[in-house]
Amino acid sequence: MDKDFLWWRDGVIYQIYPRSFKDGNNDGIGDLAGITQKLDYLVDLGIDAIWLSPIYLSPDFDFGYDVADYQRIDPKFGTMDDFENLLQNAHSRGIRLIMDLVLNHTSNQHLWFQQSSSSKDNPYRDWYIWRDKSKSGGVPNNWQSRFGGSGWEWDEKTQQYYFHLFFKEQPDLNWNNPKVHSAILEMIEFWLQKGVDGFRLDVFNAYFKSQRFENNPVKLGLAGFDRYQHLYDINQPEMLSFLSKLRILLNSYPESYSAGETFETSTQMVASYISENSLHATFDFSFMKNRFKADGFYKSIQNWESLLQDKKWPNYVLNNHDVPRSATRYIRGEKDDRLKILAAMLLTLRGTPFVYYGEEIGMRDIPVTRKSDVKDPVGKHYWPFYKGRDGCRSPMQWEETQYGGFSDVEPWMPVHENFVFRNVKSQLENPDSLLNTYRKLIEIRKNTIALQKGMYLPLTFEPKRLLAYMRKTSDHEVVVALNFSNRRVGFVVSFSILNQNWSLLYSNKRDQKPKIIDRKITLEPNEILLLEHRL
Ligand code: GLC
Ligand code: CA
Repeated sequence: MDKDFLWWRDGVIYQIYPRSFKDGNNDGIGDLAGITQKLDYLVDLGIDAIWLSPIYLSPDFDFGYDVADYQRIDPKFGTMDDFENLLQNAHSRGIRLIMDLVLNHTSNQHLWFQQSSSSKDNPYRDWYIWRDKSKSGGVPNNWQSRFGGSGWEWDEKTQQYYFHLFFKEQPDLNWNNPKVHSAILEMIEFWLQKGVDGFRLDVFNAYFKSQRFENNPVKLGLAGFDRYQHLYDINQPEMLSFLSKLRILLNSYPESYSAGETFETSTQMVASYISENSLHATFDFSFMKNRFKADGFYKSIQNWESLLQDKKWPNYVLNNHDVPRSATRYIRGEKDDRLKILAAMLLTLRGTPFVYYGEEIGMRDIPVTRKSDVKDPVGKHYWPFYKGRDGCRSPMQWEETQYGGFSDVEPWMPVHENFVFRNVKSQLENPDSLLNTYRKLIEIRKNTIALQKGMYLPLTFEPKRLLAYMRKTSDHEVVVALNFSNRRVGFVVSFSILNQNWSLLYSNKRDQKPKIIDRKITLEPNEILLLEHRL
């Protein structure tokens, strides 16, 4: 084992959407006690940390991404005791816990906003972004809401507009007010003192807005939010001074971690926020936009690697609570071959793998067919052009019993009907299942320092079908070759591989090391091949 193991760099992080993981008290909604019950499952899977989507008090307008009190647990998830119990049980099993911080905005039911909107001279007035109407009597400028329409909402009572980047029920905090910084940092320290190991920062690069409130320039040909060049409402330079204060705080709690969700930004910008004075990690979402072709993934990896170099630590993510699941993006039907290839890629790259609950059993999105069933406010708003994010938020499928073993009563969101055969229990029993592929690959990663920390070197690659690379430390090399196609494909190997004594580390299609004929290894359809060599 690795003596120099750092959990967030060398481990695997698992995202839980708490409403949908496990219902501990059978009211139909997943909760903290449910997660605690399932910790041994996560240990067995081999993960090192959990990121919990928000569990704070929330009216659930945006399902927890609208926080009414950052220091209270929402009763539907349990109590602070339940939280501490989860944290302690996770830690005693060697699992770290990451909380989700939603700091760009609060719920309109947060006390700060209730105060702020009560009168113009309330001490909390400048905790949010209030502006007079423009000279012509309309909105202060052209800033938009990501969820549709102007970002400005008129408040009758105090005769000013407030700004909201998302829905009007999610007013944006005024980050140009230092009191906001202090309150937020104090709140973060509250969780650090409880023993929380790190944070995922929701849309952190949108916290600051230009204090001059300039109109964003308009781009031609696009509509809505995309019609604007977001020069003044995101990525403001003042951001960096707050991130450095945050980092100083985090550094005083050894091994604590921050991963930022970057909003509407180039990968280059995303990479720039990782540094010793700002965040440990940021997410590049380009994997989620790729088609199922080796070359698209190859380009995403090259781009991310070349921006980060060996100074910054990458991470990789195929799924989260905002996008259709990879199984639904890439597959019609129930075959899992493609998901095994993706699992192998995710778990053998240089960078922290993030796994979204249910990804390891290949959960598919639930179909959303009627507007009246939609839960996600974004889906309600854009129906039928966009049906929202309910699809990827359905209950975890534990077993073949009613409601998939998620709850004894009807869950808040329907369970996918494939739960009768696609569930944790049946996949644990099947050695070739996707779940066992994840388990095996995580175990291999854990026991192979070259796969955790080694350099990434791209190898020959047959566009579209074959992705191959080497992971390398001073005394160990691992070659990863992934056949993205359902046909055989030739992998032309280099001299170093030809001449040395390589052995088979893993394959889903063979148990002996492959023959090299005419400098080529023939990979089986959708084969994962891992070869290793000690120097
Ligand atoms: C982030 C979250 C998303 C939420 C939005 C507003 O993008 O991932 O779920 O709706 O922020 O908080
Ligand atoms: Ca419950």
